[in-house]
Amino acid sequence: MDRIQILFLDSGTGGLPYMLRLKELAPEVRCVYIGDTANFPYGEKTLAQIECMARETTERAIKCFNPQIVVVACNTMSVAALKSLRASFDVPFVGTVPAIKLAAKSTQNKKIGLLATRHTIEDPYTEDLISQFAPDCKVYKRGDGELISFIEHHLFTASADERLAAVAPAVEFFKTCGVDTVVLACTHFLHLFSEFETAFGKSINVIDSREGVAKQALRLLSESPKLEDFSREIKDVPDMGVYVTSLKTASDEFEYKNWCRLSNVPFMGLLP
Ligand code: DGL
Repeated sequence: MDRIQILFLDSGTGGLPYMLRLKELAPEVRCVYIGDTANFPYGEKTLAQIECMARETTERAIKCFNPQIVVVACNTMSVAALKSLRASFDVPFVGTVPAIKLAAKSTQNKKIGLLATRHTIEDPYTEDLISQFAPDCKVYKRGDGELISFIEHHLFTASADERLAAVAPAVEFFKTCGVDTVVLACTHFLHLFSEFETAFGKSINVIDSREGVAKQALRLLSESPKLEDFSREIKDVPDMGVYVTSLKTASDEFEYKNWCRLSNVPFMGLLP
């Protein structure tokens, strides 16, 4: 199979906005996206389970597409398994970790909200990020598996009111804590970025890691050897495509097809 340049991995639809941002910056880069829907949700699993699922799916994907760079567009997979992925595969990896550093630069009142999966808020890696980059801040954490499940299974068919209602409990929680900055530290939340901004209002700044991850992936790509056999004319895969590892229900399939249609990205079905 023709070689691809960047492989994006997430447990579901969460990493898609990361791939779109990278394609905005570099439309010519050939990308494949894999949602590991067979193992969704990663955020509710143990560390050992996440490491094992991430390794198996990455191995399958690397065998299939032989990418130059792998972007782990999932905070949970990155905080839990990036180290072991880097040790297991001879491909440069870019991780997606909670943007605590950016939040610490942006907060005025030193109160930061961290919205993530249950695993990410409990993982010691996240605690290390806080002590390293925001030692003088109070970080209020919320794991919101319910919202992540809504985004994965219902978002692209939900109405505007349903979307706003879905973010309301998290917004209420952080407003009560008095934060002035909230980090969206699960990639799924990026699909609701504008709803979060609207609901938080002007006094709360919403932060994510899209820009940094896309730029880091392009930096690594520019440093990696050029593909001699790379030709946009020989196509086993399109310039951008979305695969999943399982389609559990017809509505899940509809969600992916809907997102792909709206974003003009080919939906390729099950990962071979
Ligand atoms: N999108 C993933 C993240 O960034 C998590 C979703 C899940 O629980 O699988 O953490």
